[in-house]
Amino acid sequence: MAQFRAAPRHDALTTDQGVRVDDTDNALRAGTRGPTLLEDFHNREKITHFDHERIPERVVHARGAGAYGYFENYEPLGEYTCADFLAEAGRRTPVFVRFSTVQGPRGSADTVRDVRGFATKFYTREGNYDLVGNNMPVFFIQDAIKFPDFVHAVKMEPHNEMPTGASAHDTFWDFCSLQPESTHMLMWLMSDRAIPRSFRMMQGFGVHTFRFVTAEGRGTFVKFHWKPKLGVNSLVWDEAQIAAGRDPDFNRRDLWEAIEAGEYPEWELGVQLVPEEDEFSFDFDLLDATKIIPEEQVPVRPIGRLVLNRNPQNFFAETEQVAFHTANVVPGIDFTNDPLLQGRNFSYLDTQLIRLGGPNFSQLPVNRPLADVNHNHRDGFGQQVIHPGTNYFPNSLGGGCPAHAGAGGGAGVFRHYAQRVDGEKIRVRSESFQDHYSQAALFWNSMSDWEQRHIVEAFRFELGKVESVPVRERMVGNLAQVNGELAAQVADGLGLPAPAAAEGITTAASPALSQENLTGTGGI
Ligand code: HEM
Repeated sequence: MAQFRAAPRHDALTTDQGVRVDDTDNALRAGTRGPTLLEDFHNREKITHFDHERIPERVVHARGAGAYGYFENYEPLGEYTCADFLAEAGRRTPVFVRFSTVQGPRGSADTVRDVRGFATKFYTREGNYDLVGNNMPVFFIQDAIKFPDFVHAVKMEPHNEMPTGASAHDTFWDFCSLQPESTHMLMWLMSDRAIPRSFRMMQGFGVHTFRFVTAEGRGTFVKFHWKPKLGVNSLVWDEAQIAAGRDPDFNRRDLWEAIEAGEYPEWELGVQLVPEEDEFSFDFDLLDATKIIPEEQVPVRPIGRLVLNRNPQNFFAETEQVAFHTANVVPGIDFTNDPLLQGRNFSYLDTQLIRLGGPNFSQLPVNRPLADVNHNHRDGFGQQVIHPGTNYFPNSLGGGCPAHAGAGGGAGVFRHYAQRVDGEKIRVRSESFQDHYSQAALFWNSMSDWEQRHIVEAFRFELGKVESVPVRERMVGNLAQVNGELAAQVADGLGLPAPAAAEGITTAASPALSQENLTGTGGI
């Protein structure tokens, strides 16, 4: 076919079929003042395409900004993982990163109080690896089955679609007050971390405990941390509100302009590594996404740096159509049984099938792996590839994809980490997930005076917008479990009496962890 293709010429507008158009300003009509004719295929095609320009926005993290760059590894990590992109000092891997808010729709303001997404796609030589993190190290819920409830509560209220860009409303606080596992995350959300000055000045976290796996199949638990070279800097609340009014694109613009000016933002990737045999040596469960591993207990080891140095050319094609997925892993990186992570591993592909119109979105330029792709997946909406030959396996007639690598397939093949799983088939939250306050208290106690003041002011502001007095009271009751002074100050600002528990603060300790008192360790 190529020999028949006309030389590209950009001197005239064409239709989708490549036919040059004489006039795109006037529809074909019967007479100068007559009706428009259906026969005008250019007019119909132009309007039809326009009518179909919008796709559904992401159900969460709808508003975002992205950029390209690279990740550079500091040292060979073969002792812990066989991931190729971490195998050699100085190896560079291209990346695309998308930062986002969570709650608001695509057109909402940047500087609202919210969690920020920090999602990175590494285009490695062994396939795409996505680290789909946030700028806070913990999450609101422990089990993904609660995510639809949580998001329904945090999103705009169903009757009037308000508020469109902040968490200050009854349903959110109702849910969280009834859900003490949210308490630790709420402390982060009410802190200045929730109003970053710039995407360039945000930390990122993989949140879950993941697993590094060596070529020999040995596992090590790993938590991922991004640390910004410019340090962590936030807005103060008044600034955030002014910026939301004056420049709703405040964070997006900052990222874009820094990259255009050649001031490339940079982060360091660090890992906390925990040997498999130490799984039960903490007073919290490594599988519980509402917990951090304190850095005093397991220091963060820097392993590489991320540099963003190129803005996208087309927001829709790249930033909007990029599809991150926690299940996009490469050899050397695997999951744990964290029930939040297990649910995410289902949800992202499922939502992208509808958001990006069918099963072929990995062929879009921003999602396409640099590694070779060979499989027998065929057809479907948006298929871009003209596959020759047959499409099944095993196959003696020729065509189709090559055989799978098999057990002896050597390096660079993904093999699931072999973990023993047994337990009763039950719907129950592990006992080891029950302490919801100790780390919230740890966070509060680690804050300086002014940081604590900002947290109290944020609780007062947000809860002050809640109409339901029982919800306010319940929330203050939860805070009393974290710190009596915090609860008393918030209560005072809301005109409520200090809760009784505020005098004798209890922070329930986790039951000691052991193999015996953990049940149901299987995945989905
Ligand atoms: C989107 C992070 C929990 C479902 C995102 C994005 C990030 C993110 C960064 C935006 C990706 C982008 O820029 O395109 C997280 C973190 C979580 C978490 C760090 C907890 C540790 C969950 C859970 C679910 C979920 C539990 C569902 C069970 C989704 C969905 C999207 C999304 C459906 C939209 C994806 C798309 O349309 O492409 N999440 N999330 N997330 N998340 Fe999560």
